[in-house]
Amino acid sequence: MKNILEAPFLIEMVRTTTNMYAHGWDERNGGNISLLLSEEEVKDYLDPGTVLREISTGFEAPELEGKCFLVTGTGKYFKNVQYAPEVNLGLVKLTDGGKTAQLLWGFSDGGKFTSEFPAHMMSHATRLKVDPQNRVVMHCHPANLLAMTYVHDLDEKVFTRTLWQMCTECIVVFPDGVNVLPWMLCGTNEIGIATAEKMKTARLVVWAQHGIYGAGKDLDETFGLIETAEKAAEIYMKIAHLPLKNTISDEQMHLLEERFGVKARGGWLD
Ligand code: 13P
Ligand code: ZN
Repeated sequence: MKNILEAPFLIEMVRTTTNMYAHGWDERNGGNISLLLSEEEVKDYLDPGTVLREISTGFEAPELEGKCFLVTGTGKYFKNVQYAPEVNLGLVKLTDGGKTAQLLWGFSDGGKFTSEFPAHMMSHATRLKVDPQNRVVMHCHPANLLAMTYVHDLDEKVFTRTLWQMCTECIVVFPDGVNVLPWMLCGTNEIGIATAEKMKTARLVVWAQHGIYGAGKDLDETFGLIETAEKAAEIYMKIAHLPLKNTISDEQMHLLEERFGVKARGGWLD
C-alpha cells in the first residue's frame, strides 16, 4: 500500500483547509469539507475491507451507499489539519443505506466527522443528481457574506442580484445565483434537508447569520466559487453606506452571458 499522506486528494485537502484558514473563513473549528472519492483513487492507499470502527450517521442516504468521503472532523481546527491530518481528517465509507459510516482512516484520537455531516451528505446526494461530476461540499464562515446577511434583504433573487452587480465576473462564476436559508439551528438533520433542497437550484447556499455552503467538482473550483461570492460581499459591505453612482446594468449582464456562454437563473435579469 502507498502512503495515504502522499495521496493527491489528501495533499489537496490539507492545502485547502490551510488556505481557507489563512483567508479568515474558518476561525477555531469553524467550517467543514467533504470530498467524494472514487474507489480507483482510494484503492492504492487503503483496503476498504479494513474497518477501524463504525459510526452511526443519524440519517439515511441510500443514494450514497458504498461511497467514500474524505471529511473534516468535528471540533477540529482547519489551521491544525496540516500538522496532524490523521487526527483532523477521516476517510469514511457509507453503508447500511447511509445510516452507518465505516471509518477506514483518520480521526485517530477517537473523533468523528463534522457535526454538519447531514448537510454535507444530503447536499452531495442532491448535487450528484444535478451534476454527476460534483464531488465537493464546503462550508465556512466568510466575514463579508455573513455581515451582508445582517443588513441586506434575504430574498434570494435580490441577494443574488446585489452580488452579481458587485464584480463583473460574478454572473459568469455563479449564474445560478445564491440561495439563502434563514437562521436555523446548525448541525441538525433539519438544516441538512433544507440545505440539500436549496442545492437543487444553486451551488451556493447562504446560511443567514452563520456562513455559506458551496458545492463543486473539485476543491479548487469550490474554493474559487466561495471566494468570488465573498469578494462580491466585501465590495458590497464597502459601498452599501455610500451613495451609489454606478452599477452593472442588466443589459451589461446579458452581454456577459453572451460573451462567456452562461445563462443567468431564469427570470432573475430584466
Ligand atoms: P464542526 O466542528 O462540527 O465541523 O462544526 C463547525 C461548524 O462550522 C458548524 O457549522
Ligand atoms: Zn458553521
